[in-house]
Amino acid sequence: MTAPTLEIHLTDDDLTAALRSDARAGLTASPKTLPPKWFYDARGSELFEAITQLPEYYPTRTERALLEQVVGEIARIARAEVLVELGSGSAAKTRLLLDALSAAGPLKTYVPQDVSESALRGAAAEVAAEFPGLAVHGVVSDFTDTLHNLPRGGRRMIAFLGGTIGNFAPAERAEFLTAIAQVLEPGEQLLLGAGLVIDPSVLVPAYDDAAGVTAEFNRNVLYVLNSRLRADFDPEAFRHTAIWDAANEWIEMRLEATRDMTVAVADLDLTVEFAAGEQMRTEISAKFRVDGLTAELDRAGFTTEHAWTDPLQRFALVLAERR
Ligand SMILES: C[S@@+](CC[C@H](N)C(=O)[O-])C[C@H]1O[C@@H](n2cnc3c(N)ncnc32)[C@H](O)[C@@H]1O
Repeated sequence: MTAPTLEIHLTDDDLTAALRSDARAGLTASPKTLPPKWFYDARGSELFEAITQLPEYYPTRTERALLEQVVGEIARIARAEVLVELGSGSAAKTRLLLDALSAAGPLKTYVPQDVSESALRGAAAEVAAEFPGLAVHGVVSDFTDTLHNLPRGGRRMIAFLGGTIGNFAPAERAEFLTAIAQVLEPGEQLLLGAGLVIDPSVLVPAYDDAAGVTAEFNRNVLYVLNSRLRADFDPEAFRHTAIWDAANEWIEMRLEATRDMTVAVADLDLTVEFAAGEQMRTEISAKFRVDGLTAELDRAGFTTEHAWTDPLQRFALVLAERR
């Protein structure tokens, strides 16, 4: 086995600087808001893995089952030499792709990319041990501003799984898909996993489980602010909520103050007031319709080659080629 290599574009200091800027903007906005990438320190990444095992959280097992079914076809069309995975997390489902791409032919390199260094190190080491013939090159970075750093050369497929594309607001999403198209060469592929619009009675519990794991994941952003910016949030004084926004077709996760609070963020020299009942948005998770998604890909510079959905129409995998 060759040990995985790691490229770090986000040092601890970079992360703190980025969090300072996001926290200042988000905590002084009205309504208050924080970007979801700050859930994912080591604890947050572990909590996300626990979410993927919950009975209510259908996306992971639905995407996995779909991938199991169609991965051979994906590999035959893609013929990728390099698999780049954005927001790879534990890369649990990626093993299916790596197996199929290796069986179909020329796969040489796997490039997992994530903002969470701990998740990335773990996944890279495991994949390198399981696929001894594969070069594994991890990239710690923010996928919104470092796509240009991804390795070039060899026929590439970029995978973006888990429905993470739904965390972008529509305008940012268009920008992001266009940026992905710009780093790919004509003929290279994007494999996108996206949650579909389904009945809110199934959707909402996936983001508000009975055991309270998603609540803990949501509150983790406050622990991150406490440890990185010396804030004094009392995370347990915030209630987790998940609501379905039917007009925008997205789930919104929020943290609601259960009482009036004054929070000091020492490193920002900032005092933030929360009124009892005030809600702060911490994540959107947009859900899609296949036609809408392929139209968005088209506008970004991709031609959809295939869109697969599961029998209950809850999740889609779309393979699109850069024109
Ligand atoms: C919803 S999880 C999905 C994980 C995995 N791809 C899956 O399908 O289970 C989102 C992943 O994206 C990563 N992530 C979130 N925001 C990011 C950003 N701005 N840049 C890079 N990675 C990010 C998180 O650390 C996490 O691993």
